[in-house]
Amino acid sequence: MKGPRVLVVDDQKDFARGVALVLGEVTTSIEVANSVEEAVDLLEGQTFDLVLSDVKMPGRDGLSLLDHVHERWPRLRVVLFTAYGTIEAAVAAIKRGAYDYLTKPFDDAELLVIVRRAYKEILDEDEIERLRAELAETRSFHGIYGRDRRMLQVMDSIRRIAPSAAPVVVWGESGTGKELVARAIHAESPRARAPLLAFNAAALPDTLAEAELFGARKGAYTGADKDRKGLFADASGGTLFIDELPSMPQSLQGKLLRALQEGEVLPLGSSTPVRVDVRIVAATNVEPARLLREGRLRKDLYYRLSVMRVTLPPLRERIEDIGLLANLFLERAAGGGTKPPTRISPRALRLLVSHDWPGNVRELQNVIERAAVMCRGEEIGPADIVLEDDDLEWEPEDEDDLAYEEAKRKVLERFQRRFVERAMAETGGNLAAAARRAGITRAALHRIVKRLGMETDE
Ligand SMILES: Nc1ncnc2c1ncn2[C@@H]1O[C@H](COP(=O)(O)OP(=O)(O)OP(=O)(O)O)[C@@H](O)[C@H]1O
Ligand SMILES: [Mg+2]
Repeated sequence: MKGPRVLVVDDQKDFARGVALVLGEVTTSIEVANSVEEAVDLLEGQTFDLVLSDVKMPGRDGLSLLDHVHERWPRLRVVLFTAYGTIEAAVAAIKRGAYDYLTKPFDDAELLVIVRRAYKEILDEDEIERLRAELAETRSFHGIYGRDRRMLQVMDSIRRIAPSAAPVVVWGESGTGKELVARAIHAESPRARAPLLAFNAAALPDTLAEAELFGARKGAYTGADKDRKGLFADASGGTLFIDELPSMPQSLQGKLLRALQEGEVLPLGSSTPVRVDVRIVAATNVEPARLLREGRLRKDLYYRLSVMRVTLPPLRERIEDIGLLANLFLERAAGGGTKPPTRISPRALRLLVSHDWPGNVRELQNVIERAAVMCRGEEIGPADIVLEDDDLEWEPEDEDDLAYEEAKRKVLERFQRRFVERAMAETGGNLAAAARRAGITRAALHRIVKRLGMETDE
């Protein structure tokens, strides 16, 4: 890998050369321009990933270059150098959609951190684009449907973590698809030919749960009328899906930790440990940080399990997937009936999109199946859609014990999301018009939209 293609723009030739020299550490592809005009010429002639530009230059300045770049190459990231003490300039730069800024004088490390971060994002974006193209053909990734950016990122990370045998924690609200993710990890992994078995402690009394997981000798507990191998042994060479991790009793958590540490299990009533080779994928519908705080999950176990993590976004944050999934479930529901509906009306769809979906994809599936049965015509209308009452209130019990900064970030993110969604809805998805309405530049809005993982028509 030769690194990102960078263009450095500064009228001070020595300074520009100095920056280029430092960048030699991360990339072999560097061009230097000493004016905006020169920069634009270079940009027209070849492809870049990143522009680093001074703001203050004779003639056209860095901000005008920023605007020009965003008009013509919206994906290109621009980092601006601002003079020391002009915090307003830095703020203005970010507002106008700059990727980041560096206050002159800056040291090499600061520069490299920003360039490395940008490069990583660029590579991730390329990967996501490839996945998007693949999905256009296969429709789903091992049964996971979705075009939402964050879902594509989930699929991408499943691909990345599948080859390893390290444990994975999957976190997502109920019905977001955690089990599907576990199955996809297994299917993508070298263990795909061995079994994937699921365990749910919530469904069993403690002793039975232990026997189910680790096995038991005949007579080890009341009702143990024969030897049991247990899921660890049965899933040997494969994957064990531990559903509802928080519902595991503490004692069992301790035993699971030991099994992970030692690579062997001790069946109930036996004194001979059995070696096991199983990959663990554990699911939780409560945020791990909260589980730890409330003592429902042993810290040592969590750190052992969460070598890799997958976080599933709630359905209400994947607006564009709602339509896609609704149509998928309609297609599936249409299998049985005599003259099933084949479409969802725009008004019904709007209802679906504005619902909060506390039960996420599973809830959507139920709503559509029911609508398909109730519907008399070919098209599902608003009257066929029966939704649980939306809880319009803020859910303080969820947020009030978060750290202040995190709570603030969440509130802000939610605000931005709603704000952007409304601006986009009011302008029919036109980014430029929505930006004007919101009083920010198109590029800045584009950044926000991207950071929130929202999709636009552009
Ligand atoms: N992205 C998706 N594409 C297609 N179907 C999905 C998707 N996500 C979830 N589903 C479907 O929604 C239902 C719920 O998914 P799943 O059981 O994986 O959720 P979960 O997160 O394990 O839920 P819970 O926390 O209640 O156990 C399943 O029928 C699943 O097939
Ligand atoms: Mg589940």
